[in-house]
Amino acid sequence: MTILDGKALSNKVKEEIKLETQELKKEGIVPGLAVILVGNDPASQTYVASKEKSCIAAGIFSEKITMNEDATEERLLDRIKKLNEDDSIHGILVQLPLPKHINTNKVLETIDPKKDVDGFHVFNVGQLVTGKQSLVPCTPLGVMRILEEYGINPIGMDACVVGVSNIVGKPMMNLLLNARATVTVCHSKTKDLKAHTSKADLLVVGVGIPHMIKPDMVKEGAIVIDVGINRMTWGKYEGKLVGDVDFETVADKCSYITPVPGGVGPMTIAMLLKNTLTAAKMSMK
Ligand code: GUN
Repeated sequence: MTILDGKALSNKVKEEIKLETQELKKEGIVPGLAVILVGNDPASQTYVASKEKSCIAAGIFSEKITMNEDATEERLLDRIKKLNEDDSIHGILVQLPLPKHINTNKVLETIDPKKDVDGFHVFNVGQLVTGKQSLVPCTPLGVMRILEEYGINPIGMDACVVGVSNIVGKPMMNLLLNARATVTVCHSKTKDLKAHTSKADLLVVGVGIPHMIKPDMVKEGAIVIDVGINRMTWGKYEGKLVGDVDFETVADKCSYITPVPGGVGPMTIAMLLKNTLTAAKMSMK
């Protein structure tokens, strides 16, 4: 069994990005990312702070925009439109979730698709589904980068994705399909989850249910990718971060498995920097 070390890989990718950023600066372009945070969600605040820190370390210009919980949708849309026109900004990210009075789809569709470093705009979703070049959501892109690093090619594999969010499950499904895996997608209404997961050569789980995947749900020798990050508030793991996979009992059955923390999580920010760099390069063409 090999542990897929996302932490080490994210550091390697960040170093590559730092060097590429230096090259880009020689050509007169400083890649710039704007991150918009609306409200006071503590988890979102942590993520945004971490994104800002990583940008600075990589030499990417970072602009953090904070708005009150009661900010109007109109104000947010106006701010995005200004960033769309701002030549010093190549990537725009609106941290989700947004307060309930704001229409998330409308916000995401207002971001210029060329600056949509989250890959959530329907244009970029369409590009991904039709197998064209696009800005791809950071977490599933990070999963593909981990597989590549360890020489794992999904072609022909039976892949099972558990979770159908627009952020993880659906883009993951499309990336694996584009890589020519046979993909099954499961969700909360799936009748017999185990019947699907236990057949998978490659199992990707992103549902947010701590330790949901047990050994009897995993095929011997499977590759298991755990996208879950759950902060436990009770029991044996109180105060710790755990994944959607019961790592301790499942790991021995796997050929490869990602740990939590230190697996997919660190790759998400590395891919955000990568997408910002891609967007900056696209702006030169
Ligand atoms: N909230 C949780 N994950 C994400 C993400 O990947 N992008 C944004 N913008 N918000 C998130």
